This record gives sequence, C-alpha cells and structure tokens, in this order.
Amino acid sequence: MDVILAKSAGFCPGVKRAVNMVYEQTEKCRGREPVYTYGPIIHNDEVVRDLAAKGAEVIHSLEELDDLPKGTVVIRSHGVARSVYETIEAKGFHIIDATCPFVKRIHNIVEEQGRDGRNIIIIGDPDHPEVQGIQGWCLTPSTVIQSVDEAVKFSQMKGEKLCIISQTTFNYNKFKELVEILSEKGYDINCVNSICNATAVRQQEARDIASKEDAMIVIGDKSSSNTRKLYEISKKECENTYYIQTLVDLDLTAFESIRYVGITAGASTPNNIIEEVHTAMSEMSFEQLLEASLKTIRNGEVVEGTVIDVKEDEI
Ligand code: F3S
Repeated sequence: MDVILAKSAGFCPGVKRAVNMVYEQTEKCRGREPVYTYGPIIHNDEVVRDLAAKGAEVIHSLEELDDLPKGTVVIRSHGVARSVYETIEAKGFHIIDATCPFVKRIHNIVEEQGRDGRNIIIIGDPDHPEVQGIQGWCLTPSTVIQSVDEAVKFSQMKGEKLCIISQTTFNYNKFKELVEILSEKGYDINCVNSICNATAVRQQEARDIASKEDAMIVIGDKSSSNTRKLYEISKKECENTYYIQTLVDLDLTAFESIRYVGITAGASTPNNIIEEVHTAMSEMSFEQLLEASLKTIRNGEVVEGTVIDVKEDEI
C-alpha cells in the first residue's frame, strides 16, 4: 500500500505557538502559582489531558476565577473579546496572550474599521469562539453571516459603510460566494480576506491528495471545525474517506483491498497521533494485502485480472 501524508497535516503555526506557550508557562510557574487556560487551548482532548497532567487547568468561565487561587491565565489561539482581558486583570490574574497573530490582526482591523464608522460583517460560524472574540473587538455593530440565505437576507440602511472580514478557518470558495452576494447590494464595502493561509494550504492539499487516492484518512478531534471541513472536502473527492480521532478509531479491515491511501489532519492534531496512524498504515500494508489476497483466492474470485485457480491448502 502506498501511503501519502499531507505536508500540511497537523498543528498550524498559531496552535503550535499557543501549545508551546502553555507548556513553557507550566514549567515557569511550577511550585509558584497555578496556570489556567481560558477554554481548552486547542480542540484536542489528548493534548488538553497532557497539559492538565503538567498543571494547566482549563477554566470555562470567568466566574470560576472567583474561587481559584491567583495565577496566570493563558488566552488561547482563537483569541477573546477585549472585555475578557479586562475582567481577568480586574480579578488580579496575570495574562499570557497566546492569541494567534493572524487572529490578532483581525481584532486590529475591526477596531480600525469601526473607528472609520464601518459596521462589521464577519463571515463565519457565530458559535465559534474565534468569531465571538472578534465581535468583542468591534466598536460598531457587527453581524455574523455563514450561509447564502443569511447573505441574501442581509440589509442595512442605504449608504451604510461596511467592512467584511472572515473567520480564519472559513472555506475560501464559500467566503467568495457570500462576498459576491453582499457586494451586489450597493453598500460601500471594504473587504478583507482574513482566511488563514495555513487553512487554505491544508484544504487544497487534502483536495489534491483525496482526488488521487483510493482512500483518505482525516485525523482530528470531533469538535474541531477545521478537521470537519477537511473531512467534507476529502469526502467530496474520495468516497472512502474516514474521520478518526486516533488510530484506535480506524477499522483496518476496511483497507484490505486499498492500494493508495492519503492522510491529512486538522490544525489541532498532535504529531504523535499523525505519526502513529502513518506508521500503522505504512507497516500494515504487506500483511494486510496478503490477507486480502488470501481472502479473494478463497472466494475463487479474480485478483488483478487473473483467474486464480489455487486451492486454499496450496497457498
Ligand atoms: Fe492561526 Fe491560522 Fe492556525 S489563524 S491558529 S495559524 S489556522
């Protein structure tokens, strides 16, 4: 079996930076003060568990801080609203800001554009923490749009000035489609494509690999929206696409008659999990293919265009 691993699989630079910052912080603060992350640092249970074992506790609301000993709160790569920083500091905690620089750039853009009197349209998922964080930096009214229907229905007063930006992990083609619909409405629009290049590269590579392979494996946490998008893109190109969190989710028997397999992984999937799957797929190839051949012969069927006429005990 030939196995191709996407070069762009796994942690993007922003997630890598954030995870490293938490590890560094747990080292620095060990025995001195507690470390908290405001929400899980990434959408991956394995990493979050490992960090917890090293002393980084996840908090899910600012109210929780009222009952916790003072320490350092790490802001994750998705970023948060300005008010969250203010509240954490007002409660007497230190902040380590691991907001991805690409997300921080969006915060700066919406602030600037707001000062210019532009209302903000965020193309993205309204329930995603990154989008909620961006809204928290808007000085003017903001609207989140994620579907064609919402774009068609969107309306503002005539002559209103707008700025359109995107959630970093949004699909580029969909973003373009929604911007086109909004552009036809005759508003004065500044449009900033703030989709992260890491996402676009990963999505394109998944598309390319999936279109050529017999099967595709997408690795990532079930709650990771960028992994789900990779799965959708791959599935469109390759019917045999599998979405797994770790190697144990993979039914290896499904690969018995597969020759070419592609592997990719979401931005929050750690390298060790990707490597485990890659190694397993590469190593199992010979034995699995042999086993598949034996089964085919037993059934008296055709293998690679040749009629096999061999009794089982001759094999
Ligand atoms: Fe940042 Fe792009 Fe990753 S925005 S968190 S480098 S997907």
